Amino acid sequence: MTDLREITFGTIDLDALAGTAGRVAVFVDGERKLGRAARRVNRLTRGAVARAVEGETWEKKAVGDVVSLAFPTGMAAESVDIVRADRRMTVEAARKAGAALARLAGASAITVLNEASARMAQVALGIALRSYAFTDHKSDKGKLPAPARMLTNKPEELEAAAAPLLAAASGVLFTRDLVNEPANVLTTTEFAARLEALRDIGLEVEVLEEDRLAELGMGALLCVGQGSVSPSKVVVMRWKGAAGAPLALIGKGVVFDTGGISLKPAGGMEDMTMDMGGAGTVAGVMKAIALRKAPAHVVGMVGLVENMPSGSAVRPGDVVTSMKGDTVEVVNTDAEGRLVLCDVLWYAQQTEKPAAMVDLATLTGACVVALGHENAAVFSNDDGFAGAFLKAAETEGEGAWRMPMGKGYDDLLKSPVADMKNIGGRPGGAVTAAQFLRRFVSDDVPWVHLDIAGVAHLKAGNDLAPKGATGWGVLALDRLIRDRFETPEDAA
Ligand code: BES
Ligand code: MN
Ligand code: ZN
Repeated sequence: MTDLREITFGTIDLDALAGTAGRVAVFVDGERKLGRAARRVNRLTRGAVARAVEGETWEKKAVGDVVSLAFPTGMAAESVDIVRADRRMTVEAARKAGAALARLAGASAITVLNEASARMAQVALGIALRSYAFTDHKSDKGKLPAPARMLTNKPEELEAAAAPLLAAASGVLFTRDLVNEPANVLTTTEFAARLEALRDIGLEVEVLEEDRLAELGMGALLCVGQGSVSPSKVVVMRWKGAAGAPLALIGKGVVFDTGGISLKPAGGMEDMTMDMGGAGTVAGVMKAIALRKAPAHVVGMVGLVENMPSGSAVRPGDVVTSMKGDTVEVVNTDAEGRLVLCDVLWYAQQTEKPAAMVDLATLTGACVVALGHENAAVFSNDDGFAGAFLKAAETEGEGAWRMPMGKGYDDLLKSPVADMKNIGGRPGGAVTAAQFLRRFVSDDVPWVHLDIAGVAHLKAGNDLAPKGATGWGVLALDRLIRDRFETPEDAA
């Protein structure tokens, strides 16, 4: 497990600046007005800070950008990092600034002197998110990152403001670890064990084993895992921070997707270790809301299976019966995510009577073709709920784009032998997958389906995440819960 980088909060001691080791970050606003600490650093460095913010280079910097003075004379620090700031810096710029500082620092200590921005908590979040590295399977794990110290005039206030953000960051890192983990390590059994460990932070966790899933009639979910030696499981995580009907979060947890008998080509198949990204995100959100003791009622459910070809695997043409009772012709065993989700969606509605449902899945390659790696696809049966999610995602800087649904797409799922088939053909592949799921959602339950195939894992990384798992969606869903599902008077 990757721990959050340690972040501490304190007041600025001007006399300690000369001897501070590691990297020292100062914030300077657009007017180039230096605060007291920046003035002291400027004096120690014989005017280097003032010179750095005089020239054209500084002019071209966006809010959140950093100019570094390496090994400054007059200070013990290895660098003074000057952050272009603004009192009303956007959340995005503040996170980006923190992430830039973390990236520059590597394992070195970071001391942030804040005098020019009210967004320091967001800077701390940026540091936490970009200090992540997945080194569990490297012999050389590198140095543990030294702590980041956030120094300001009112450290208690800042610490209180940062606490819920750092809880969310812990959730994001949990998601990233799960998604980055190879499939020989993160088997369905290991995944369930890691979720059971969330009991330590107050979540109620229940694991439904194969015999129970069979009793419940989850023939669609079970057929996906029947070719694997890893047993299929459904894990239910409950956070009851408020009374009333819960928000249900449902995740696709295919720990490895070979395609099954409809085998995928070899090239790039290793990427399918991330096919449990939906389940990983649900787990991250549950961790985040438990850590910040959210006054909300949320139930997370994940379907954990492995899609393997073998003598016992489901075949193309097989007909299975879902928990709802509808029969499905499995035309392509590689369209397995929807088979997992349809039973978990139905189970969630039967057991929880949820106020709303969000499912997440690395569901289709077609989604990646449509939206690339910038946006997740958003499908919904409820404009209001979809709008609330889109707003939360925008606030958190996580790309999300609404997609259409409709009867014409649904018609493509007609089967000659069963109630439906599990694929709708190549055109509109992300939409027909969503239509399949919609058949398992009651019209009176507001529902959002998020196809995260393009955003859960990045080959190149982005501002806030190194290459690999991003943890996309944890911040947006945490925000959605805050905005729509919290009742402060019922606080846990
Ligand atoms: N897990 C894949 C989708 C996927 C593709 C996720 C690329 C991340 C990156 C999913 O199970 C799948 O194989 N979908 C098929 C569906 C098709 C057979 C209808 C696909 O997209 O090709
Ligand atoms: Mn597949
Ligand atoms: Zn898959």
